[in-house]
Parts: sequence; C-alpha cells; structure tokens
Amino acid sequence: MPRKQLVLLGASAGWMLPTDWLAQFEEVHAWDIDPLAAPLFRWRHGRHLPQQGTRLHLHTGDGLAQLTACTRDMPEAFFWFDNLLGQLRFTDESLNAVSHRLQSLSTTLQHVAWGSVHDRLSGRTLPGTAMPVSRQGLAGVAMETHEGQAWLQQLGAVSPWLDHLTEKVLPAGTPVQHTAWPFKPGYAHWLEMGWCPPRITRP
Ligand SMILES: C[S@@+](CC[C@H](N)C(=O)[O-])C[C@H]1O[C@@H](n2cnc3c(N)ncnc32)[C@H](O)[C@@H]1O
Repeated sequence: MPRKQLVLLGASAGWMLPTDWLAQFEEVHAWDIDPLAAPLFRWRHGRHLPQQGTRLHLHTGDGLAQLTACTRDMPEAFFWFDNLLGQLRFTDESLNAVSHRLQSLSTTLQHVAWGSVHDRLSGRTLPGTAMPVSRQGLAGVAMETHEGQAWLQQLGAVSPWLDHLTEKVLPAGTPVQHTAWPFKPGYAHWLEMGWCPPRITRP
C-alpha cells in the first residue's frame, strides 16, 4: 500500500481510524460533505498528526465529484473509502444509478491504489447470535452463492436483508476481509474491506 499521500473519503471525524494508522502517511487529505466533519476530525487527530510529521488537509464537499481531479493531481496517493460507498443507496439517486456509479468506480480508479470498507448487506439477526470472527475471502461473493449463504447463516441473518449494492465495487478477486458488525441488539451489518494496487499504468 502506498504510504505517501492518503485521500480519505467519507472521513467524518475519523472515528474508525487510529491516529497511528493515519500517521503512516506523509500527507492526509480527508474529505467529507458534512461541514461538522472537518472540525471534529481536527479535534480528534489534528494535534498528533503534525507531531508525527503528517500534514493534514481537511476538505468539505462532495469527495466523489472530485475523484477524477484528485486521481489526476495525486496519482501516487492511496484512495480509501471509509464506510461511504454502502451509504450511497440512501441518497436521492435511483438504485440503478447508484449501482452503476458504484460499479464504474473501479474504472475511474484503475490508475491508482485504492480500497474501501463498506456495508454489503444488513438486517435483523436471530436473538442471541454470537457474531463470528472476521474471515478472509475474495471480492464479488454474491449473497445467493453457497459461500454468501454460509456467511449470512453465521451472522444469524433473518430474511430479508438490505442490499447496499456494493457487491461489485472492488474488482472481482480482490482479497478482502468479511466482518460482522453488531450495529445494535438484533441487527447486524456485513462489512467488506479490501484494497487493490493500480491495475494499469497511466498513459
Ligand atoms: C458512515 S459515515 C463514515 C464514518 C467515518 N469514516 C468514521 O470514521 O466515523 C459516512 C460519511 O460519508 C460522508 N459522505 C457522504 N457522501 C459523501 C460525499 N459524496 N463526499 C464526501 N463525504 C460524503 C457523510 O457525511 C458521513 O460522514
């Protein structure tokens, strides 16, 4: 994984990322559309990152709209979607349009290293289900496959579960970690996380 620049999309206050992980990078560009995110991110990480030699740039706005420009300006950066992509289905766009947008990301990003942690599915669980430990797999597991069903069974999933439309976000075959997140009692999310190196060199 490149360690020079990090472009963090859907950063919020950076609750999910330890300062020491962020400090691996020489420069962090954190994007969030919520105006409260930048001050909270600065409060949480802003003092320690410069002390560890990491320059911090906080951007308020639509990071997805800036993606092409960012990959052009920072081709050596690592682009990380921090629990953002699984939320797009809740926007005003049609589900078809969101699916299409999510699937086209890997083309937009094919010249850079990038990764994502996102919801795959979420829903009710059988009372008293102990969440399973994370497991390794490959991106692109469809929920109707034997592997997908076995994992949902381990989560204690009670049908129907909500599809976050992220099955095809990461290029098929990317090594990923599948994780169970007990969101609240009786309700869990299937999270997928993984990253891939640049797949083609920039012309
Ligand atoms: C589930 S939260 C991510 C949590 C965050 N990574 C953390 O550590 O707490 C999703 C975040 O994405 C932001 N967001 C949604 N659409 C966005 C966009 N187009 N560009 C940048 N940020 C966006 C939201 O404001 C929200 O803070």
